[in-house]
Amino acid sequence: MDKRSIGVKGATLNVTSQGAGPAVLLVHGFPFDHRMWDSLSSYLATKYRIITPDLRGFGESTATEGIVTMEQMADDLYAVLHAMDVREPIVLCGLSMGGYVALQFVKKYADRLRGLILCDTRTGTDPPQVKENRNLLANSITEDTRAALAEGMIPKLFSRRSLSDSAESIDFVRRMIVTQSPAGIAAASRGMALREDTTDLLPSLPCPSLVIVGQEDVPSPPEEMRSMADKLPKSQFIAIGDAGHMTPLEKPDVFNSAIETFLGMLPT
Ligand code: MLT
Repeated sequence: MDKRSIGVKGATLNVTSQGAGPAVLLVHGFPFDHRMWDSLSSYLATKYRIITPDLRGFGESTATEGIVTMEQMADDLYAVLHAMDVREPIVLCGLSMGGYVALQFVKKYADRLRGLILCDTRTGTDPPQVKENRNLLANSITEDTRAALAEGMIPKLFSRRSLSDSAESIDFVRRMIVTQSPAGIAAASRGMALREDTTDLLPSLPCPSLVIVGQEDVPSPPEEMRSMADKLPKSQFIAIGDAGHMTPLEKPDVFNSAIETFLGMLPT
């Protein structure tokens, strides 16, 4: 396992990598960090070089006050690849906010990709009420209110089955949320509120893609993700039963093997 701090414009990112082989970059959701990929990373590291950054403002990366856009985070990833001397095209995988960032990466750096995996994410913009809630959160989050944020989010993140049977995963997510920097949560929340619609990017994606979602995902409904997959030229769509928004944690066996199969089918 290699862990390093990489300087990007105005921030320092914590980036972990393990394994050797074709590079796969895993981008976490909000408000989490690279640890949400632990199971997938160790599963794939026997065949691939798995790179898991903490996005700006999350995990052990430094936060930027104000607004951090999805485009800024995509630029950060591009800079990370450069700093790590990853020159060959990569597979990029993002969950939810990580997917918003991945789509901005597609917009600017599609030639750096050999595959794209979109997990539990969306291409549409937020309705006005959601935007307002994001700005309210950004203006009110403190160290003391992170626990309440976690409690409010958890019922929307997990399937009914996970909520009753997966206390360990739920506790893991709760602990991840309460350790995130309030400034990081605020800046990303404002950045998500500002994000643009990326649906038009889908038909011209030059590489194969996998679209994967929990059948009970509330923030990124399966029907919306199926419609994304339908617009992508070389896509596969998988909906995982008894999973909500946190598919890699709720159904790691099914999730990990779906990703492994997709990676195995990509042209080298
Ligand atoms: C995430 O898991 O990254 C969030 O659900 C993204 C969002 O709030 O839209």
